[in-house]
Amino acid sequence: MDEEHDYEDFEETEEETPDIGVEGESGLEVTDLPGVGPAIGKRLAESGYKSVEAIAVASPGELAAAGSIGETTATKIIKAARDMLDIGFETADLFLVRRQNAGRITTGSKALDDLFGGGLETQSITEMYGSFRSGKTQMAHQLCVNIQRPPEEGGLEATAIYVDTEGTFRPERLVDMAEALGMDSAKVLQNVVWARAYNSDHQILLCDQAMEMAPDKNAKLLILDSVTSHFRAEYTGRGTLAARQQKLNKHLHHLQRGAEINNMAVYITNQVMSRPDAFFGDPTAPVGGHVLAHVPQTRCYLRKSKGERRICRLVDSPNLPEGEAVFSVLKEGIRDV
Ligand SMILES: Nc1ncnc2c1ncn2[C@@H]1O[C@H](COP(=O)(O)OP(=O)(O)OP(=O)(O)O)[C@@H](O)[C@H]1O
Ligand SMILES: [Mg+2]
Repeated sequence: MDEEHDYEDFEETEEETPDIGVEGESGLEVTDLPGVGPAIGKRLAESGYKSVEAIAVASPGELAAAGSIGETTATKIIKAARDMLDIGFETADLFLVRRQNAGRITTGSKALDDLFGGGLETQSITEMYGSFRSGKTQMAHQLCVNIQRPPEEGGLEATAIYVDTEGTFRPERLVDMAEALGMDSAKVLQNVVWARAYNSDHQILLCDQAMEMAPDKNAKLLILDSVTSHFRAEYTGRGTLAARQQKLNKHLHHLQRGAEINNMAVYITNQVMSRPDAFFGDPTAPVGGHVLAHVPQTRCYLRKSKGERRICRLVDSPNLPEGEAVFSVLKEGIRDV
């Protein structure tokens, strides 16, 4: 069809200036980009490209579809956004500054926080995998409470978004955990938005929406519990494995990008499955195989111990040593033993 357009051709004249949406950290507006007037800007905003930052890291195909523009135009807009933000190579000292802006969220257990180098980190994905009742969902709830606390108490004074694929979100648990910390439970509940995802496409859509609304809501935590259950149910059999991995891979890269753009912590859970070669070594392996293994920055394996005790093993991290921590899951939430 009409693939190629010049910027100017595409600009329809509109009387009123539409609400293009939020600005990114740079303070630049999408319409500051050459070739993006109110009409394209509005379409892009409606598809989630509300900031120059978001456009700078988009792929041409995605942006073209979002703005109903040609891919060549999209490529030019992306390049302009990158130039404007000075994206590309940067010196290590600048990168370090960005890393230092990463926030930390306490888990509720000092031992666990130490294992994570000071708590769960923003700008990255943390994957918690383990068997049923190992505490993955309890941890998700605890993080939703803790993120709301002030920095001196291990929080970021921010809100949380919860995407629930298994129907195991329980506001009552948030109330328990908030009250145990002397927090106003009504306020705590208001600062957590929740959605049930009914299939993998819905899950992806909700996560994209979450990343769009994060700046408006001051959300610094996205929970995805669990990342793999729908994929596992929908893609059964060997023949569908490649398609499943490809879709999961794209999904996770979107999450990663959102985590970086929004300076947000993404906490995903994953079940373990029996492996046919269980006889040799670990009888369990996370669902999702090698694709999932390479996207999340921090991967942890949770297992049950006696009573309320749980053991968390840091399996993979770019900057932390492997190790283990023991903690408890109580009515009050996650605590040290
Ligand atoms: N109100 C509570 N008081 C004390 N402990 C609780 C409470 N609610 C849950 N737990 C503990 O948390 C466990 C369930 O953990 P959780 O739901 O986080 O498991 P999970 O790893 O998400 O499992 P699954 O893979 O089935 O989703 C319970 O077995 C119990 O030990
Ligand atoms: Mg669970």
